[in-house]
Amino acid sequence: MTDFYAVIGNPIEHSKSPVIHHAFAQLTHQDIQYERVLAPLDGFAQTVHGLISHGFKGANVTVPFKLEAFAMASRLTERAQDAGAVNTLIFDAEGIIGDNTDGVGLVRDITKNIGVSLAGKRVLLIGAGGASEGVLHPILAEHPALLIITNRTLDKALNMVKRVEARDEMVFVSVNAYAFDDLEGQQFDIVINATSAGLSDSQLPLPSGIFAPNALAYDMMYGRMTPFMAFALQHGAIVFDGLGMLIEQAAEAFSVWRGIRPPTAPVIEMFKQQAKA
Ligand code: ATR
Repeated sequence: MTDFYAVIGNPIEHSKSPVIHHAFAQLTHQDIQYERVLAPLDGFAQTVHGLISHGFKGANVTVPFKLEAFAMASRLTERAQDAGAVNTLIFDAEGIIGDNTDGVGLVRDITKNIGVSLAGKRVLLIGAGGASEGVLHPILAEHPALLIITNRTLDKALNMVKRVEARDEMVFVSVNAYAFDDLEGQQFDIVINATSAGLSDSQLPLPSGIFAPNALAYDMMYGRMTPFMAFALQHGAIVFDGLGMLIEQAAEAFSVWRGIRPPTAPVIEMFKQQAKA
């Protein structure tokens, strides 16, 4: 019997998730159907209940509903609580379980696919919105030597640091918030752009010397050469976009739903080939 899943968002027509999940299903011989569902901006909860009543087994949640999904879950996984947002819902007899696979997706792409360890590294996380919050704890769990959060609105970065400091188990990493201007003279091994500045092609006011030799520059955005990526290339960094993260967060959701981990390398390769064509 076919099991049904969906990705819910607004807008949703450009979502790659159905292609990714159908590729996983083929690779693991799972009988699933996965569709895009456009929820009205004021109708997320209703949309979720509609899917449940039609027998769907789970859903991914994307912009702008990750906080609403967090609020409506009857139970949250620890990583969803850490992220303060939900991108994966599981519908079962217990109710609606909210999970978050974004952070683990980023970490797996960096450590497994790109092959760069975060342990002991100086990491700069740019942005203090939902995307940044979602990856903060999984990055810290890799034990970098130092994590600096920088954001246009400094208060938001300071609040993220305060919340980390309030949790005893995170004290082994030195975490600080800096304004863009105060980054002058600092160097990082890994620089992660979690802002949405790339959407408007805005350049971030970063000092040119922030990249240590062989630094990794990672933009969580996928599908375009952002000004951040161009800047990083120009200053000698090794640059990646968020394609691998997109596919790894999907693989984690697929594993949660199906109990089987799909291979991601052939799917990443398929998208890279499509982008070249
Ligand atoms: P998301 O869920 O994608 O993180 P968000 O919560 O709206 O979306 O956060 C967007 C992030 O991108 C914020 O860190 C935002 O900075 P502010 O907190 O100062 O608003 C950052 N951002 C967006 N456009 C930017 C720009 N042109 N320059 C610098 N930062 C930008």
